[in-house]
Amino acid sequence: MTKRIAVIPGDGIGPEVIDAGMRVLERVNDEHRLGLEFTHFTWSADEYLRTGVSMPPGAMEDIRDHYAAVYLGAFGDPRVPDMKHAADILLGMRFQLDLYVNYRPVKLLDERLCPLKGKGVAEIDFVIFRENTEGAYVGMGGAFKKGTAEEVAVQEDVSTRKGVERIIRYAFEYAKRTGRKSVCMSDKSNVMRFGGDLWVRTFEEVGREYPGIEHFHMFVDALTMQMVRAPEMFDVIVTNNMFGDIVTDLGAALQGGLGVAASGNIHPGRVSLFEPIHGSAPKYAGKDTANPIGAILTAAMMLEYLGFYEECSLIERAVTSAILDHETTKDLGGSLGTRAAGEAILKRLG
Ligand SMILES: NC(=O)c1ccc[n+]([C@@H]2O[C@H](COP(=O)([O-])OP(=O)(O)OC[C@H]3O[C@@H](n4cnc5c(N)ncnc54)[C@H](O)[C@@H]3O)[C@@H](O)[C@H]2O)c1
Repeated sequence: MTKRIAVIPGDGIGPEVIDAGMRVLERVNDEHRLGLEFTHFTWSADEYLRTGVSMPPGAMEDIRDHYAAVYLGAFGDPRVPDMKHAADILLGMRFQLDLYVNYRPVKLLDERLCPLKGKGVAEIDFVIFRENTEGAYVGMGGAFKKGTAEEVAVQEDVSTRKGVERIIRYAFEYAKRTGRKSVCMSDKSNVMRFGGDLWVRTFEEVGREYPGIEHFHMFVDALTMQMVRAPEMFDVIVTNNMFGDIVTDLGAALQGGLGVAASGNIHPGRVSLFEPIHGSAPKYAGKDTANPIGAILTAAMMLEYLGFYEECSLIERAVTSAILDHETTKDLGGSLGTRAAGEAILKRLG
């Protein structure tokens, strides 16, 4: 059965890293007869500046109704300071397609890449689930007396029972499915009392339904400290949109930097979106220096979501082998450009 994939390279280094990821995907698709069909979309800052349109009318419905997954590079361009096109496309898809699970594995592939003293691949292997459709990112709020000395700005942080419960439940289900032993919920409920109370109560209630899985709570400031001091204490972490955004960059640093980190924006059973964690890194755009591994591991994650487990492992093994042989870009200590680093992985696919 054919599965349609929407490919959106986006801005900055997006097109280069997605090109490397597509070479891997096309090779695996051809050789393993996965039946994937790719459609490329040129939505980007360039197109927005030229046409004034970020995403054509009907495009969101088309993605929702006719595609199995979206493979996306990054958005962000200094010529669009308000990020209008990124908000329409990326946040637009997260919200309108209700992609409530932001899935970000933190897995160290080579001890050499870890910035922590005395920690290695055994200690750094956990998963973060970030709530992806609520929190401070809903854009509720406003300004009063703007531009005056009395200016007031209000930015709301929204949590709903439905939104909190489904991400927490997803984290427990993931732990159960993959044999992980514990789930840690992190928030700032000592200060943000109302939303925090909802998160804490829901976590306790859902946690009781999974007696085989240990569950514990940690304030987010303590979480950041423990991720550095004792990352081995974590299996699965679940947190809100804002804290998840921040702690996953810390997680990326533990596994070798933004260039190697992958992420999925998932609504189980529906079209879901996969993107490397990094942004468009405009100063590296077009220079053949960006690390393609984040995009390639993202491609592997997308295949896993689509049920191609063997092919996902194949790609992960090829990436690990290239890293262990130092055939990487400079950010990982190698000397290759984006394209050559992608080729180094491609040739290891067998
Ligand atoms: N999901 C997204 O599309 C997304 C995510 C984050 C930032 N952004 C946008 O991207 C633009 C740049 O943001 P930023 O500079 O804060 O973050 P960034 O992730 O683009 O880059 C930060 C730094 O990380 C390193 N880096 C990132 N990707 C790398 C790669 N593939 N290989 C090697 N090194 C890499 C570079 O040193 C870079 O300067 C902004 O417009 C921002 O809003 C978009």
